[in-house]
Formats: sequence, structure tokens, C-alpha cells
Amino acid sequence: MTDASGSDESLFPIAVLIDELRHEDVQLRLNSIKKLSTIALALGAERTRTELMSFLTETIYDEDEVLLALAEQLGQFTPLVGGSEYVHCLLKPLESLATVEETVVRDKAVDSLRLLAPEHSNSDLETYFFQMVKRLAQGDWFTSRTSACGLISVCYQRVNNSIKMELRSLFRNLCSDDTPMVRRAAAAKFGEFVKVVEIDHVKNELIPLFNNLASDEQDSVRLLAVEACVVIAGLFKHDDIERFLMPSLKQAIDDKSWRVRYVVADKFVELQQGVGPEITKNELVSAFGSLLKDNEAEVRAAAAGKIKDFCHNLPSDTREQTIMTHILPYVKDLVNDSNQHVKSALASVIMGLSPVVGKDNTIEHLLPLFLTQLKDECPDVRLNIISNLDCVNEVIGVKTLSQSLLPAIVELAEDSKWRVRLAIIEYMPLLAGQLGVEFFDEKLNNLYANWLLDHVFAIREAATNNLKKLVEKFGHEWAQSTIIPKVLNMARDQNYLIRMTCLFCINVLAQSCGQELTQKVMLPTVLGLASDPVANVRFNVAKTLSRICPVVGSSALQSQIKPCLEKLNQDSDVDVKFYSIEALESEKVIQAM
Ligand SMILES: *[C@@H]1O[C@H](CO)[C@@H](O)[C@H](O)[C@H]1NC(C)=O
Ligand SMILES: *[C@@H]1O[C@H](CO)[C@@H](O)[C@H](O)[C@H]1NC(C)=O
Repeated sequence: MTDASGSDESLFPIAVLIDELRHEDVQLRLNSIKKLSTIALALGAERTRTELMSFLTETIYDEDEVLLALAEQLGQFTPLVGGSEYVHCLLKPLESLATVEETVVRDKAVDSLRLLAPEHSNSDLETYFFQMVKRLAQGDWFTSRTSACGLISVCYQRVNNSIKMELRSLFRNLCSDDTPMVRRAAAAKFGEFVKVVEIDHVKNELIPLFNNLASDEQDSVRLLAVEACVVIAGLFKHDDIERFLMPSLKQAIDDKSWRVRYVVADKFVELQQGVGPEITKNELVSAFGSLLKDNEAEVRAAAAGKIKDFCHNLPSDTREQTIMTHILPYVKDLVNDSNQHVKSALASVIMGLSPVVGKDNTIEHLLPLFLTQLKDECPDVRLNIISNLDCVNEVIGVKTLSQSLLPAIVELAEDSKWRVRLAIIEYMPLLAGQLGVEFFDEKLNNLYANWLLDHVFAIREAATNNLKKLVEKFGHEWAQSTIIPKVLNMARDQNYLIRMTCLFCINVLAQSCGQELTQKVMLPTVLGLASDPVANVRFNVAKTLSRICPVVGSSALQSQIKPCLEKLNQDSDVDVKFYSIEALESEKVIQAM
């Protein structure tokens, strides 16, 4: 080791870095930035603070990719410059990065600065960090002022009162900046700033700014003000909300730009929770109605998707009545909306109204709407209804539900869209359990058999897998008398895919039907398929045999399964050979022998 006074050797790493950072290949420059921490370690904290930081600050002209990596690295650099005592020396290079033209780089620099702010002592925050924020906020370029918007709230709470006042004044200027981009950034950070500012200052200084942003000429600014509104509402009491917020919020609900109304609809439940029950009752219920019949489909869809949550959050004393008189009429119109996204958004939540309005209202008013939606031409609408049937079930009972909806469900069981059929199948065990065996046999059994023969694999697979649940619900005898004969019949189907499905069903049924049925009723069919002309069927026989052998007795194993597998082992097809060897060698077979 040479002494610490700066010999050539101790200069080495930074010289290497400088060379690499000047390399004409971007990839090499990028790599050297990515190992910046290694270089900083080699340099030691003091030289990192002085030489490396000033080098980086002066050399910030590069590809965005390199700058982005640098901005990210510096956010993690506190230990490498000697801890929080020295963290302020990272501000200079990040300040430059926060002013570049490329948005991603700037945003990353701001992110890193936001990470570093809490690591400063109060006095460093007042001196270094605040001065940087001030320079950025008063910068000539809009890029710099945009970045300042994201940095004010992270230092506000830990600085003295005179600096707080300056920060509020900087923020005020940013909110009325000539460049829309800056106002947009200020509006986006408004909620965050409001949370850290003293409530009196919020009322006296920030609310007027909020109202300006909410009436900005740019809709992109106004819609961000709606998000700020949610935060502010959460901080205020009823009277203050009424006085300070409602004028702007009402304006936003009727905004001429649908993008603003869309954000209102999208944030409606948060707004509802923010303003509380009284204002909800007096103002928001009718506003919600107007969003539900907005001219723009996007707005209607956003509002429709909030119906359930909005209704759940209504004050309980008047909830049912409010829904029936002020919401339901709009819902009835939406069921026949001209836009399928609106109908589909409605279908995904409409069943959730059932528990809120109770049994009688559901039967009288909602069931007809469900029926209309079950028959909708758009598959997503039908699917959304089917997927939510269970919450209605709990309210009106499965009898009523099935009486009114079953015909439509039966129709859907043959829907041309396989995803709809799939949803019905998945609902089947629940329905079967609640309808009981007779009802199932009468109405659904044949459907079930059709699904096993469906031309879409996913449907056959789902129907097969659900057999297990059905047998568990209805028992072995039911299986033997109804479903097993249908399954065994499939072994004689012309289509080899159906013959394979027969084997898949047996795989599933054997697990829940026990030794007797498996051995006496199903095994002969499996053995019969061992001489199927299609190799795919034959190797599935080998697979099925190895799956069901734990369920059959050892004499059947010896006298029937083993000879069959040995015969398949002589098959001319390599796959059949492969699977029969695998079956013969499987642990289950060996154990059972
Ligand atoms: C606030 O902090 C700044 C910087 O540390 C200092 O110059 C100023 O005098 C302080 N003001 C008050 C009122 O403490
Ligand atoms: C929606 O349209 C269907 C079919 O045209 C009709 O039967 C139903 O009554 C309508 N529903 C409402 C609530 O208007």
C-alpha cells in the first residue's frame, strides 16, 4: 500500500472508469455505470464524494439508457459516500439528471431524490435539499420545474417554519405555471402535499390552488385534480368538505371532457367514502345516476363497475330505498345498453346487489335483469352472470334461482362459445349439490353427457374432472346407474378422442368409486381398448392401468392387468411400448404384485 496522499496507483480506478465512460460503445458505458458501486468501494467514501461525484456531475451527457442507470444507482449510494452525514453530496448529479429532457430519466432521478430525502439530517435538509428544490422549482426549463413538484412534500415536514412558507410559495407558483406539463405534475402531487401541510394552511392556501387546478383549461390537469379531491376529502370534516370541495367536485361530475367524468366515475367509491354519508345522500346519489347515463360509454362502464360497492357503502338506514328508487332505474336501462363493455361491467357486479336489497326485491326486480343478461348476445356478459350466481343463491335460495334461471342456464350449456360452457360446468357441482340428485338427473344429466363428448378439449377435460365431485355428492349407486354406463358407451365411439375421454373419465371415477365398481364394471372396458386401432388410445390404456391398479385387487392385477401390459409391451408402436414399460415399472404396479 502506498500512502493516502494520492499516488498514481490510488488514481487508477477513476481513470479506468473515465475511460470506460468515454467508450464509444453504449453497452460498455452502461456496464461501467452498473458497476459504479464497485468503483465507489474501491475509491473509498472520501474520493467518491469528491472526485467521482464531480466527475459524474460534469459528464452528464449520454444516452438516456446510461443516464437512467446512473439515476437509479445514485439512490442507493448513501453508504458509499460515508453515510447520512454526507448524503447531500449525491444531490448535485441527481439535480442535473432531474432536469434532462427524457421523462424516464427525470422521473428516476426524482425517485432517487425522494429516497434520499429521509436520510438527511434536519439541518442538511434545510440547507442542501431545500436549496436544490428551490433551484429546480425556479429553473428556466419546464423539465426542472416538473421535477420540483415531486420533491416538495418529501422535505416539508422536517424543515423550519420560514422554509415551509417558502416551499408553499414555490408550490403555489408551480400550480399556476405557464406550462401545462408543470401544472399537471403539481396536480399529480397535490394529494401528497396536502397530507403533510398543516390543516389551516391547507384551507387558506392550498384549497384556492386546488380550485384553480380543478378549473384548469387543460382536461389532463382537471382530471388529476379529481384524484387530489379524494385525498382532501379524507382530511376534512363535513362542513369543510361542503364548503371547500363540493363546488369543484360538482363541476368535475358535469365536466365537458369525458376523460374527467371518467376519472370521477372511476374514483366514485373513494369519493363517496371521503365525503361521508350525509353528502353522499344529498349530492352523490344523483351524481352517480347521471354518470350511469353519461353520453360516453367509457364513463357509463366505469360507473357501472362501481354499482355494487357504491350501494354497499350507502348509509344503511336508507340504503334499500335509495337503491330501489334512485339507482335501480338506471340499472334497468344499462341492461340494454348499446355498448357491450357497459353491459359486461354491469354483469360483473349486478348480482352483488342481491344481498343488499334482499329476497323480495331480488325476485321481483333483479331476476328479470339477470335473465336478460344471461341471454345477452355478448358472451362476456353471459359469463359474468354465471360466474356470480352464488351470491344470489344465498339470498333467494337455489330453488327459486333454478326455477327462474335454469332454462337459460340449460341453454347456455350448449352455448356456441366454449368459455361460456366451461363456466357452466364449473358451476355444476355447486348447482348439483343444491338441487339434489333427482333434479340433476332430470335436467342436467344429459347435458353432462354431452359435455363429455364436446369437441373442445377444455370442456371434455373440465367435465371429466368434475365427475369426481359429482360422485362425492351423489354416491356410488348414482354413479353406477347414471354416469358410468354413459362413460363406458364412449369406448365404442367412432372418434378416438372420445374413446380417450372414456379412459380419462375412468381415471377419475376409479378414484372415487372404489374397488368393486372399478374392477367389475370399468376394468373390462379398459382392457378391451388395449386392442384399439389407434396407438394414442392404446398407450392411454397403459397409463390408465397404472393409475387404477391401486384400486383393484391383487388377483385382477395378476390375472388381467399384468398380462395386458405385457402384451402392450410387445406393441409395434414405440409410445405404447414406452408407456407400458413405464406402467410395469411403476411403483404402484410393483407394490401391488
Ligand atoms: C430556517 O433554516 C434556515 C436554514 O437552516 C435558516 O437560515 C433560517 O434562519 C431558519 N429560520 C428560522 C425561522 O429558524
Ligand atoms: C331489455 O331488452 C329485452 C329484449 O329486447 C327486453 O325483453 C327487456 O324488457 C328489456 N329490459 C329492460 C329493463 O328494458
